[in-house]
Amino acid sequence: MKKKKVLLMEEEFSVVGFGCWAISGSNTWNNSNDDDSIKAVQKAVELGVNFFDVAPVYGFGHAEEVLGKALKDSRSKVLIATKCGLVWDDRYRIENRLTAESIYREIDDSLRRLHTDYIDIYQIHWPDPNTPIEETMEALINIQKAGKIRYIGVSNFPIDLTKKAMELAAIVSQQCLYNMLERNEESYHGIPLEYRTEKEILPFCKEKGQAFFPYSPLCQGLLTGVFKETGNFDDNDVRANNPKFKGSIFKKYLNVVEKLKGIANSINKPLSQLAINWLIQKDEVTSVISGAQNINHVEENVDSVSWELSDDIIKEIDHILSTFEKTC
Ligand SMILES: NC(=O)c1ccc[n+]([C@@H]2O[C@H](COP(=O)([O-])OP(=O)(O)OC[C@H]3O[C@@H](n4cnc5c(N)ncnc54)[C@H](OP(=O)(O)O)[C@@H]3O)[C@@H](O)[C@H]2O)c1
Repeated sequence: MKKKKVLLMEEEFSVVGFGCWAISGSNTWNNSNDDDSIKAVQKAVELGVNFFDVAPVYGFGHAEEVLGKALKDSRSKVLIATKCGLVWDDRYRIENRLTAESIYREIDDSLRRLHTDYIDIYQIHWPDPNTPIEETMEALINIQKAGKIRYIGVSNFPIDLTKKAMELAAIVSQQCLYNMLERNEESYHGIPLEYRTEKEILPFCKEKGQAFFPYSPLCQGLLTGVFKETGNFDDNDVRANNPKFKGSIFKKYLNVVEKLKGIANSINKPLSQLAINWLIQKDEVTSVISGAQNINHVEENVDSVSWELSDDIIKEIDHILSTFEKTC
């Protein structure tokens, strides 16, 4: 497994990581069952993956529990990043909340579900406009001093807010939407994004020595090339609510995927590996947190590191992507 390191942390990250939203259980992601999920996580560890990204809200605690079980015997070998700031009520309605009181509760719940006594990177999942950032950061510093978290990261943060947070505590990483087809997106699942990943976040992370973790690296599975025009998800699959997977915009996505598949076929590689390697070859990208629900996904994703994209292929891909971007 190839590894990368950033200035602000001493640890090395496997360039292929593991995103745990897809192991939330079948109520959230239709193909997910716990036995396969546990085997997938353990296979990833066996193949050298050392970075696992999860969040309490994935399956309302379920993904953290599954990850905790799967990593029972390998906790010390891996880095776990979980998150705070999205909480839910007894009717599973989700709310942004970054008050100190809420964070103190969330961290203890995450540690219990993950069967661990520390989190390597504790990330703020989304900003909370109703809580002063000073209150949030003070709470994070307190739990850091208590040894419950090692590092603090942010996700979905506009640059100005990250700068404010950095005046209050060290921020070692950023996580944002980023894949071949979503490079400077203005929304995610209909939620406006107050940052432009490729234009703003990547250069910022590079300058500050922060890690960057691209989320949805396979565009929720679209970049595996298996999606058809309809019938890709059950109603309870979160992806059924992604507005980009409907109507005329979805047709544009499917068209560009066909072109990218052509390139993948020409070099005899799966499209998923083309997508992962396109991310890995960027200096700013630290670990690609691709989602996986089974051993086959993991093996195929990890195998991306067995080869590299040539400069000519990168040029060809970037030409297709910039033409696609102009049509959106
Ligand atoms: N910070 C945030 O706000 C945020 C938001 C979203 C995600 N994330 C993080 O990013 C991670 C990854 O993003 P994502 O969950 O949106 O999805 P993704 O990594 O873009 O796509 C994952 C899906 O692609 C399919 N897949 C994966 N490997 C495959 C392979 N080799 N062959 C065929 N299909 C394959 C699987 O779905 P099917 O087989 O069911 O199609 C899998 O669940 C999440 O798990 C989470 O940790 C963070």
